[in-house]
Amino acid sequence: MSLLSSPFPLRDLVLKNRAIVAPMCQYSARHGFVNDWHLVHLGRFALGGFSLVIVEATGVTPEGRITYACPGLWEDAQIAPMKRIVDFLHANGAAAGIQLAHAGRKASSPLPWRGSFNETDAEKAALAFEDWTPVAPSAERHAASYKLPEALDAVGLARIRDGFVAAARRAETAGFDVIEIHSAHGYLLNQFLSPVANRRTDSYGGSLANRMRFPLEVAEAVRSAWPADKPLFARISATDWIDGGWTVEDSIIYAKELKARGVDLIHCSSGGFDGAKPQVGALYQVPLSAAVRRGAEIPTAAVGLITTAPQAESILAAGDADLIALARQALEDPNWAIHAQHVLEGSDAVYAGWPQQAGYAIRNKDRALGGRT
Ligand SMILES: Cc1cc2nc3c(=O)[nH]c(=O)nc-3n(C[C@H](O)[C@H](O)[C@H](O)COP(=O)(O)O)c2cc1C
Repeated sequence: MSLLSSPFPLRDLVLKNRAIVAPMCQYSARHGFVNDWHLVHLGRFALGGFSLVIVEATGVTPEGRITYACPGLWEDAQIAPMKRIVDFLHANGAAAGIQLAHAGRKASSPLPWRGSFNETDAEKAALAFEDWTPVAPSAERHAASYKLPEALDAVGLARIRDGFVAAARRAETAGFDVIEIHSAHGYLLNQFLSPVANRRTDSYGGSLANRMRFPLEVAEAVRSAWPADKPLFARISATDWIDGGWTVEDSIIYAKELKARGVDLIHCSSGGFDGAKPQVGALYQVPLSAAVRRGAEIPTAAVGLITTAPQAESILAAGDADLIALARQALEDPNWAIHAQHVLEGSDAVYAGWPQQAGYAIRNKDRALGGRT
């Protein structure tokens, strides 16, 4: 058996293999409700053999959504359509994860494929357009084209912390197996962590300990609301890629603190602030995962331009990560996990990986061609 196909236990959850789908915003929800688009988008990854499918950044409060078309779990009515997705993933062999998020000063952004708020009145009605003033650690814009946020006071912080807790409880009711706290990509929790965005002079700003305070309070609160037998992930931007910004060394300290509060795995991404200068290329974030995994002695997921089965296998063999997360390559090939198993193992076992509705037919196709191509 390949390392990629080997099971991975975390608390009482056993992932059937190491290939997972990273959260991907779809900008297709209405008033925070997921729908058939999300069911099909996410469901196909279960059919394609991934062990864990993580639902996109989901707002814990309405103003925490990145766009008006992002999903939420701030009200009970939002549970049922999420549960429909969870049930489908479970029925088809995948565990279900959800990324709980607050976008902070990057909230109320335009849909990325539109680039600006250019909706006509008819489109606004059809798309359930909403527009609001974001909140953030400090009243500073992300970049010139973004809205000026209001700085959060103690009441605002408590509301968001409570929002994470309530959303975690709703995620439990929906049947999710994993919560991932989004503290990456320049969104709210990352805005607290990074000196690039946090200009506070109270106990939530200044020193590293102060900047970590709110994200760690959220992690602690979510952990206590989330069942002890279920794993909790945190996604981090392991470096800002900005001189004077958040560093890998900071990430190791943060990961240790998260671990002490019951976070089980760090999903190692990077960047998210204006002015970042990453060296983007194949596997470019894997060294970040390796550094956090070794430095904080905590399981990690590597992500970012991982596209082939041999790459995934070597990352696991090197001990650079415990899980391999794919986003764009999973869009490219939703059956990537099954295809990867074939590449690495090349055995008849691959047919068992397909849903029964497809496996026998694909085997017949391969036999008719004299072998798998
Ligand atoms: C369409 C799209 C939507 C994304 N949405 C999210 C998201 O909701 N939360 C998040 O943490 N990252 C998000 N990302 C980042 C991915 O999870 C992933 O980290 C990134 O795309 C790098 O992995 P890849 O090279 O396999 O695509 C998104 C990426 C894409 C392409």
